Amino acid sequence: MILLIGASGYIGEAFAKELRRRKKEFLSITQRDVDCTRFIPLLEFLKRTKPKFVVNCAGYTGKPNVDACEDHKAETIIGNVLLPQTIAHACATLKIPWGQVSTGCIYNGAKIIENNKTRIETNLANPEVRKLIEEWPAKISGFVETDEPNFTFRHPPCSFYSGSKALGEEAILGVGENYLWRLRIPFDEFDGARNYLSKVQRYAKVYDNVNSLSHRADFVCACLDLWERRAPFGIYNVTNPGFITTRQVAALIVKFLKSKRKFEFWENDEEFYKAAAKAPRSNCVLDVSKILATGVKMRPVEEALEDSLKNWKPEKKS
Ligand SMILES: NC(=O)c1ccc[n+]([C@@H]2O[C@H](COP(=O)([O-])OP(=O)(O)OC[C@H]3O[C@@H](n4cnc5c(N)ncnc54)[C@H](OP(=O)(O)O)[C@@H]3O)[C@@H](O)[C@H]2O)c1
Repeated sequence: MILLIGASGYIGEAFAKELRRRKKEFLSITQRDVDCTRFIPLLEFLKRTKPKFVVNCAGYTGKPNVDACEDHKAETIIGNVLLPQTIAHACATLKIPWGQVSTGCIYNGAKIIENNKTRIETNLANPEVRKLIEEWPAKISGFVETDEPNFTFRHPPCSFYSGSKALGEEAILGVGENYLWRLRIPFDEFDGARNYLSKVQRYAKVYDNVNSLSHRADFVCACLDLWERRAPFGIYNVTNPGFITTRQVAALIVKFLKSKRKFEFWENDEEFYKAAAKAPRSNCVLDVSKILATGVKMRPVEEALEDSLKNWKPEKKS
């Protein structure tokens, strides 16, 4: 049996759907069933139910967006540090392997290869950098799993959310046997408040930047595939290969949804942060060579985006 923690969330419901599709026996629990931030109750629960693998998709993300984490710091630390740390120690005690949904937003920027040298560029909104990205995409590469996260409490500035997620990774690395699956900006064909493709359509003005993205079902399939193939434990960037600008995403929306919407973009970071955001936002490119080398498949980001838009299921208006 697989134990699923956080199945009521956006990512958790996708894990539940995929486990049902694979006909895997699993047990979903909520905070009401057992407080997984407390070691003894969790240990007793694991002893009783004996899962052979645990998936943790619970965490504190902030609603409607990560700015809420700036105002709910205790909940953020409990959900993103204390919770995975407790799960790690309880699972290690009972030798149960498990996987934690982490995030790519502990990084900011991308690597740029110029004159045979690689440098980290953190300002992907810089017009010269953007020109390079658009004209020479092969010169851009992403952060690999061994790169030290650079958008954290240890490397400020960062959002409180990103800082907490990086601390969560630190708290569980090397404790027992676990996967750290790094997700980045989830999207799919199901219109809704949590879907990046819906968010881009609903913003009054769009923030243009460069990012790696994760198709939600591709992400959960890849995470479960890593476990089913018994790939080595450790950190994996689980994004669709490649990167894309928000302007390119908007153009795909216009093309495939025949949207008449004329997208407006924030002029620059200054305007965006003054009017629409509180905490600094991470924009980053992740390298996925490690997961692809295990044989686990991920579609290129353009293909996953086109497929989602071709199969778009608009949210029913109440
Ligand atoms: N969505 C994204 O854009 C994104 C991107 C990268 C990474 N992630 C990571 O993916 C994971 C899932 O995110 P999501 O978008 O699915 O979030 P979500 O929709 O907000 O769901 C969060 C889940 O966590 C549970 N939870 C929160 N605090 C908890 C606690 N202290 N103890 C036990 N359960 C707790 C919630 O349970 P209740 O319903 O009972 O509160 C809910 O099931 C998080 O770790 C997040 O950091 C998300």
